[in-house]
Amino acid sequence: MPSPGAFACNNTPEPAVNKAIAPALLQAAEATGSLGMDAYWMPFTANRQFKRAPRLLVRAEGMHYWDVDGRQILDGVAGLWCVNAGHGRPRIVKAIQDQAAEMDFAPPFQMGHPKAFELAERLAALAPAGMNKVFFANSGSEAVETALKMALAYHRARGEGTRTRLIGRERGYHGVNFGGISVGGIVTNRKAFGPLLGGVDHIRHTHDLARNAYTVGQPAQGADLADDLERLVALHDASTIAAVIVEPVAGSTGVLIPPQGYLQRLREICDRHGILLIFDEVITGFGRTGKPFGAQTFGVTPDLMTLAKGLTNGCVPMAAVLAQQKIHDAFMTGSESLIEFFHGYTYSAHPLACAAGIATLDTYAEEGLLTRAAAMADYFAQGVHSLKGEPNVIDIRNIGLVAGVELTPIEGAPTKRAFGVFLDCWQQGLMLRSTGDILALSPPLIVERSHIDQMVETLRGAIRRAA
Ligand SMILES: Cc1ncc(COP(=O)(O)O)c(C=O)c1O
Repeated sequence: MPSPGAFACNNTPEPAVNKAIAPALLQAAEATGSLGMDAYWMPFTANRQFKRAPRLLVRAEGMHYWDVDGRQILDGVAGLWCVNAGHGRPRIVKAIQDQAAEMDFAPPFQMGHPKAFELAERLAALAPAGMNKVFFANSGSEAVETALKMALAYHRARGEGTRTRLIGRERGYHGVNFGGISVGGIVTNRKAFGPLLGGVDHIRHTHDLARNAYTVGQPAQGADLADDLERLVALHDASTIAAVIVEPVAGSTGVLIPPQGYLQRLREICDRHGILLIFDEVITGFGRTGKPFGAQTFGVTPDLMTLAKGLTNGCVPMAAVLAQQKIHDAFMTGSESLIEFFHGYTYSAHPLACAAGIATLDTYAEEGLLTRAAAMADYFAQGVHSLKGEPNVIDIRNIGLVAGVELTPIEGAPTKRAFGVFLDCWQQGLMLRSTGDILALSPPLIVERSHIDQMVETLRGAIRRAA
């Protein structure tokens, strides 16, 4: 198994330079009147490597991107796990255009606008029962910080201000801000940034190749790993612990599906000790696992839930924290003229994002997309699991319309094999993601069987060539 440090998006090895793509950059440069690529410091990217052999996308529609050379690329990852309704959806595009023309911005502090309230009501209606309060942010990272702060302030408001400890999980990804990297469990995202938040601890991850390799759906073994929280309770005492944050399915470290009963057990332990449970549903939200939210797929309701990505179909940055009524109500004490939660962003509930969010929810509802992953799951599972036996494949896992294919790392060069497969697929017209030595697939929820066939066969060819 690769070390946790291998799950960086930015420690990828040097690939062979893709000479075919270099002329495309020149064309793009001519088109934009700029010849330089120096100024843009790219996020989670090997900048120097990328700029030698760029991959430039210029158009998107439905299941596809097109690059600067006019090549059609099948989108196997919904952009970055976010374009769940597929690209260029006219209703969403029009809603954004109309909103920009009607009202570009409205301050969210001590002011409001109707679409913010409408979107919040719509989200509450979709969420698990009781999760009926919605706080808006602009990115998954911001939603995570918001949820962590809410958890701390909730306990303090109830007179349990000793509950300041936050618990994350190894191999968790919760964005890149200080709270998120502190509770996150990815070495490369943490090690350069000093002591991080104090008072944070981690439970063990659930990835267990020895017991669960090639499981279709939820692994049978591993509910007991939730008991690791009891270990931390015994170590720190429950009276010091505010919240536990986990992704229902850990996406960024390679699609780790929760073992059967694991999330239930985590819920029970939290309840027993008065600890809040936060689900980071930035990836699992909006239909990825077969129901609107992972909480519903797995039948466990958290106290707080973070959402982003699919909330606006990736069109306008937006995120949200959904909170149980009891969390919200704990803040609503004292004088009504006092601000209850000293937190918010200039662009919380931005009008363009709200318009995009409402149009996105309409699109999901009209086309039944939030449950479509359940209908496509068997076909998708058969396709990806047919890769068993291909060279260097050591695990395949899936749920709904998300899958991970794990490869044996090249000795002394972790991540290199999967990154090579990613590049090969790109050259063959398929965009997927590599993380560590795992290839992740999470296509838009409009995916058809023919696209699944294409994804699987392209991946198969690339895996064979990487042997
Ligand atoms: C589970 C989870 N939380 C948080 C984030 C961070 O979201 P953002 O990149 O919008 O800040 C991500 C991003 O992939 C994520 O997968």
